[in-house]
Amino acid sequence: MSQLVQAEITGCRETAPGIWVTEFLAPSLARGAMPGQFLHIRCGEGSDPLLRRPISIHSVDRQSGRVKIMFQVVGKGTAWLAGRRDGFIDIMGPLGRGFTVFTGEQAGLDCSNPRLVVVGGGIGAAPLYFLLQELARVGCVQQVMVLLGARTANQLLILDAAKVLGFNVRVATDDGSGGYRGLVTDLLAEELQQKTDFVFACGPLPMLKSLCDMLRDAGVPGEVSVEERMACGVGACLSCVCRVKDTGGIETYRHACVDGPVFAVGEVLL
Ligand SMILES: Cc1cc2nc3c(=O)[nH]c(=O)nc-3n(C[C@H](O)[C@H](O)[C@H](O)COP(=O)(O)OP(=O)(O)OC[C@H]3O[C@@H](n4cnc5c(N)ncnc54)[C@H](O)[C@@H]3O)c2cc1C
Ligand code: FES
Repeated sequence: MSQLVQAEITGCRETAPGIWVTEFLAPSLARGAMPGQFLHIRCGEGSDPLLRRPISIHSVDRQSGRVKIMFQVVGKGTAWLAGRRDGFIDIMGPLGRGFTVFTGEQAGLDCSNPRLVVVGGGIGAAPLYFLLQELARVGCVQQVMVLLGARTANQLLILDAAKVLGFNVRVATDDGSGGYRGLVTDLLAEELQQKTDFVFACGPLPMLKSLCDMLRDAGVPGEVSVEERMACGVGACLSCVCRVKDTGGIETYRHACVDGPVFAVGEVLL
C-alpha cells in the first residue's frame, strides 16, 4: 500500500557520469514494493519545484529495509536530489502497477521452463535491476537473457550487478565502445530467433516502439514500462494519460501513474 514517508538517506554516489544512486531507509515501503513501481519524491525544500518527481525503485533489501533509486540528472529536481548526502527525503509510494514477476502461471502462459528476455535502454535499465532481483529470488536466473543498451560503455547501467546475480547479459552501445555496435533491439531480434516466452522492457520511447512492433510480429507477449510526464502521481489529474487498447480492442485512455507505468505489449499504443 502506498504511503508518505520521511526516509533517512543512507548513501548517495555517482555510479556513471550524471547518473546517481541514492539509498534510504524505508522498511515498510521496502516490504510492499514490486519491481516497476515508482516513488513520487519531493525534490526541493520549499515550493520550487512544486511537483514531486517520479523515480522508479531501483532495488530493495526487504530485510534491512533499504531502498535504492537510480536517476539521471536532467533538471532542477534531479540536481537537487543528487546533492542530498544525508538527512531525510519526502517520499510517496510505492505507486503504480509494476512488472509481473514471472512464473508461467502468473503471466497466464503455459510454459514449464520459460525463456525470458529483459531489455533495458539507457536510464531505463534502472528499474530492471529490482525485477532481476525478484526473478533471482523466485529461481528464474538460468531462464533469463538480459540485454542492455547505452550510448557508450561508461553509460551502461546494472551490467556488473546483473552478472553478480548470475544472469547472462549481452550489451550494445551506439559507438561500439562496449559489446555489439548498434541498437539493443538488434540484439533482441537475434534473441527472438529462439523460442522466447516473455519480454520485459524499459527504455527510451523509440526503443519501446520498435520493441513492441517486433514482439507483435513475433507473437511474443511482454510488458513495457512507459515514462509519461506526471503531476499528482495518484490518478487525480490528467497529466499522465496514455493511449491504450482495452480488452475489446477499443482505443481509450489510461493513467500511466495508476494503470501503469507498466503495460502489456499490445495494450499500450506508443
Ligand atoms: C514512472 C516514471 C519513472 C521514472 N523513473 C526514473 C528513474 O528511475 N530514473 C530517472 O533518471 N528518471 C526516471 N523518470 C524520469 C524522471 O521523472 C524525470 O527525469 C524527472 O522528473 C525530471 O525532473 P527534473 O526536475 O530534474 O527535470 P525537469 O526540469 O522537470 O525537466 C528536465 C528535462 O527532462 C524532461 N523530462 C522531465 N520529466 C520527464 C519524463 N517523465 N519523461 C521524459 N522526460 C522528462 C523535460 O522535458 C526536460 O527536458 C521516471 C519517470 C516516470 C514517469
Ligand atoms: S499524474 Fe495525475 S493522473 Fe497521473
